[in-house]
Amino acid sequence: MIGRLNHVAIAVADLESASAQYRDVLGANVSAPVAQPAHGVITVFIELPNTKIELLAPLGDDSPIKGFLARNPNGGIHHVCYEVADIMAARDRLVAAGARVLGDGQPKLGAHDKPVLFLHPKDFSGTLVELEQA
Ligand code: CO
Repeated sequence: MIGRLNHVAIAVADLESASAQYRDVLGANVSAPVAQPAHGVITVFIELPNTKIELLAPLGDDSPIKGFLARNPNGGIHHVCYEVADIMAARDRLVAAGARVLGDGQPKLGAHDKPVLFLHPKDFSGTLVELEQA
């Protein structure tokens, strides 16, 4: 059911310095920051030949990554995003298998204006999983 690895997301406290490190030290193609108010984050995407890295910084006082950064002040891997062809079919199959979908269970538009869902990390080997309809 899952397809390509769309991105690996890394939460960072300092988006500017993390972006500069990927651009200047690692020599990657780094996007401008984009505020995602519906998700409480600012994102920067780094294009790699085979996938992307998503840098996430908190936006607003109730950002969902605030707690993660409090526990991981140096930043860290926050989630992985897999592509699926049909997000509603994927959700129904996962819920039937006992997996928990975060939030109200309805897909939201993600950073690429495509529908996304997040799955509970306790159900997936301690890893927050994002599904994006490709
Ligand atoms: Co993501």
